[in-house]
Order: sequence, then C-alpha cells, then structure tokens
Amino acid sequence: MNRAIGVFDSGLGGLTTVKALNELLPNEDIIYFGDTARIPYGNKSRETVIKYAVQDTNFLKSKNVKMIIAACGTVSSLIGGKPLASDIPFTGVLLPAVQAACAATRTKRIGVIGTPSTIKSGSYGKAVKNIEQKAFIIGKECPMFVPLVENGYTSGKIAEYFVKEYLEPIKKENVDTLILGCTHYPILKDIIGEYMGEDVKLISPGEEAAKYASIALLSENLLNPEEKEGKNFYYVSDSPEDFEQNAVQFLGGHINGTVELANVS
Ligand code: DGL
Repeated sequence: MNRAIGVFDSGLGGLTTVKALNELLPNEDIIYFGDTARIPYGNKSRETVIKYAVQDTNFLKSKNVKMIIAACGTVSSLIGGKPLASDIPFTGVLLPAVQAACAATRTKRIGVIGTPSTIKSGSYGKAVKNIEQKAFIIGKECPMFVPLVENGYTSGKIAEYFVKEYLEPIKKENVDTLILGCTHYPILKDIIGEYMGEDVKLISPGEEAAKYASIALLSENLLNPEEKEGKNFYYVSDSPEDFEQNAVQFLGGHINGTVELANVS
C-alpha cells in the first residue's frame, strides 16, 4: 500500500512524531502539514482550533494519505477522542500518551502539562480516569514553553526559570509520571527531566502516537513493502525557509525532504 501517512500540527511540534515514524517505519512516506501561519493553536477557542484542524485534515486527505495523525496536543484535546476522518485510520496524540502514562505509573500520581487550551479542556485527565479511576492527576498550563522552543531557548537561565515556575506545583505532588501534553515540549525534555528528577517518567505524546500508528497500520495490513525507501514531504502555511531552519532541533539534523508552501483555508 504505497500511500503516505499524513501528519499535521500547528507548526513544528508534530515533527517529534515524524522523527519517531521515520525510525519505526523507514519504508513509509510521510506527508506533513505545519500550520505555521496560524500557530499558536494553544491559546485559541475550541471552535477556531477545530475549524483549523478540519482544514488541515482535508488538506492531507487531498494528498490521498492512508492514515492521519493529529500530532498536536491542543487539537487532540479539543476533539476529545472524536476522529476527524472516518474513511481512513485517524489518531490524535492524547490516547496514545495516556495509555503510555497509565502503563508507566506505579504510584498512580500523574502530571500533565500542555497549552492553556489543552489544560482547560481537562481531556488528558478524563482519559486517564477512564483507564485508572483512582489516579491522582495534576495539570498545569505552560504558555511560555512553545515560544521558548520556537525561539531556541531550550536550555539556560530563561528556560530554567520557566521550568521551575510551571513545574514546581507538580513536583510538590510527587508524581511519578509526567505527560508532556504538547508536541513541542519534548524539545525541553532534558531540562524538564533534570528538574523533575530521574524517577519521574516523561511521556512524549508525539512518539507515543507514532508507535500507536505503526500498530494500527500493521494490524490493518496498510504498511509499505520492505523494499520501498520512505520519503518525507513537508508543507507549511508560512515561510518554508524559516521552517527548514527551525526544524533542525526537532529532527536532530537537516530537513530530510522537500518543503513547499500550501494554502489550506
Ligand atoms: N504543538 C502544539 C500542541 O501540541 C502546540 C503549539 C500551539 O500552541 O499551537 O499543542
């Protein structure tokens, strides 16, 4: 089945899913859409985020993808588990991340960090409670994390200040698992891990969604043959040059595919 896997996010965060997909499924083509002209989604209303997410999904469908991953914590939280496509497999990052967190926790004390819209929705907490009714969950919005990542402040004094500011109340609650509920946050994983301590397991939703997708595609017999070499095709709604430059910290190297401008509205 030589159709690509479609992945979208408000900007760069979903590249954490692309990186994991490239490692897990090297024979697959990936079509990525980053809505860089309209980022951030994380402080917008539910109506606006869902309108954008439907447009992003339709753009990927127009490319005839075989599966869609909404690699955005905000979209995944606001759709609340409701798929945006019904004719092909679809997943957000919420359920895969929550399943991984519930499997990892020993004390059933779980922290969730995310964008303001994600935390206000309470979706991560509800999904955890569906699996672990007795779990204790503490959520915290971290509005400065996305601008820090987008501007390259992933270590040093400024990043340390905001990590302490946002994570102190969570650390005080002795959680043993922390869901990085926004796909931008794994870029801050080192500094977050240092602050929380090595006993706290950090869950990256983008990576978990990639694992989830690979199992879904395998079980539906939709994977490419092993002789095919997978390629990446990136589309963005704002400057391709800026995207290429900023993608390096997410992919851990230069962009591995073509980048084109796309209009999705
Ligand atoms: N990557 C988005 C998420 O996972 C965050 C960026 C945004 O606010 O648009 O929520």
